Amino acid sequence: MTDNRTGKTYEVDVTDDTVRAIDLRQIKVNEDDFGLMTYDPAFMNTASCRSSITYIDGDRGILEYRGYPIEQLAEKSTYLEVAYLLIHGELPNQKQLDEWIHEITIHTFVHENLKQFCEGFRYDAHPMGMLLATTGALSTFYPDASKIDDPEIRYSHVIRLIAKMPTLAAFAYRHARGMPYVYPDNELNYPGNFLGMLFKMTELKYEPDPRIERALDILFILHADHEQNCSTSAVRAVGSSQVDPYSAVAAGVAALYGPLHGGANEAVLRMLRRIGTLENVPDFVQGVKNGEERLMGFGHRVYKNYDPRAKIIKKACEDVFEVTGTNPLLDIAVELEKIALEDEYFVSRKLYPNVDFYSGLIYEALGMPVDMFPVLFAIPRTSGWIAQWLEMTQDKEQKIARPRQIYTGGRTLDYVPIGDRG
Ligand code: CMC
Repeated sequence: MTDNRTGKTYEVDVTDDTVRAIDLRQIKVNEDDFGLMTYDPAFMNTASCRSSITYIDGDRGILEYRGYPIEQLAEKSTYLEVAYLLIHGELPNQKQLDEWIHEITIHTFVHENLKQFCEGFRYDAHPMGMLLATTGALSTFYPDASKIDDPEIRYSHVIRLIAKMPTLAAFAYRHARGMPYVYPDNELNYPGNFLGMLFKMTELKYEPDPRIERALDILFILHADHEQNCSTSAVRAVGSSQVDPYSAVAAGVAALYGPLHGGANEAVLRMLRRIGTLENVPDFVQGVKNGEERLMGFGHRVYKNYDPRAKIIKKACEDVFEVTGTNPLLDIAVELEKIALEDEYFVSRKLYPNVDFYSGLIYEALGMPVDMFPVLFAIPRTSGWIAQWLEMTQDKEQKIARPRQIYTGGRTLDYVPIGDRG
């Protein structure tokens, strides 16, 4: 590399198609100089870790967990098997899977005090805000979770997090409806138990429709991990302070709450409702092109092609509508997709449907209010967050996350007493 300021040249290693930002520090104008840094707002071109969990090729629309294509996992696997794969790095044999499912199933209950904690929220509290708080609160019930260097203790909290997330999510849902919380049912599978905790009324035994159960499980598989996205980076950054995993995951929930991340499917549904009829679609698309608004559920920082998850969800959408009856908003979504995929504005910017474009329609068909959508994303993403957190805690190269800045403010100003200020 040649520094044009001084004309000096430097050798910087290129490994895995990257240069180490710290290697640039040797590039100085003079001895007092701090050294060259990289400036990368929003981490557009910076790898923050080495990871063997999730592989994405955004240009080709490829997504793999631990090397297995998402299409095969969505077709053949279950969410809990995928969670095992993410955490352990390999698919389980039957015995390992049975043990894993058993461990998760027997940890689905939460301390009764958490119920009281939930009751403290206002009747109209956003369930994602509740989930954020209850996830963080779990750390106070398990003080030993702070011993993150003990593998056995660490593992017990990995199990607990995956097991309790649906329970916390369902409590948040029931709270908003003023309905009594439903305890987990150990005889149901992971998605079935969640459906039961959401929808059980007076029946003695809740029996989920197997097609709905499977559709939800597929959605869980598709949302389980997505490498270094905003919420995962939040979990890693907060976890790098060596805080307990509940607090780190709470940071992930907070990041996922935002409309550009986990809140996008909620925004898609609101957008489809606002468009209202097929006739309004062209006007809406024109508004997007004029820069007046965004086509929610379109575009992705990494995918510059059809998001492979969107294809699978579109198919799951059809399966769910077979049970629940169709939703006219689906016609609007399909028309929007058709127009956008042919329009120069979207084509030239490589804007394609992402995972959120169709998922909201399924959630709505399942009877979920829109503010539950990010909650439904957070449940399965917990296994990805935790897999990434585990990987980080074992990575000798990682330290506390602490970016640099380019300071743009004033310097060495003299304090002016308040009476003398203009
Ligand atoms: N509608 C209209 N224009 C768009 C959209 C959109 N949804 N997304 C990007 N663009 C335009 C953007 O205005 C820019 O145009 P120009 O070059 O003329 O300024 C260009 O495309 C590049 O966009 P960008 O904002 O630089 O892209 P980004 O990588 O920063 O943003 C994104 C990625 C997902 C935040 C963005 O595409 C977006 O806001 N999409 C809508 C929200 C959404 O669906 N989010 C869910 C993401 S997938 C699930 C998840 O990971 O959470």
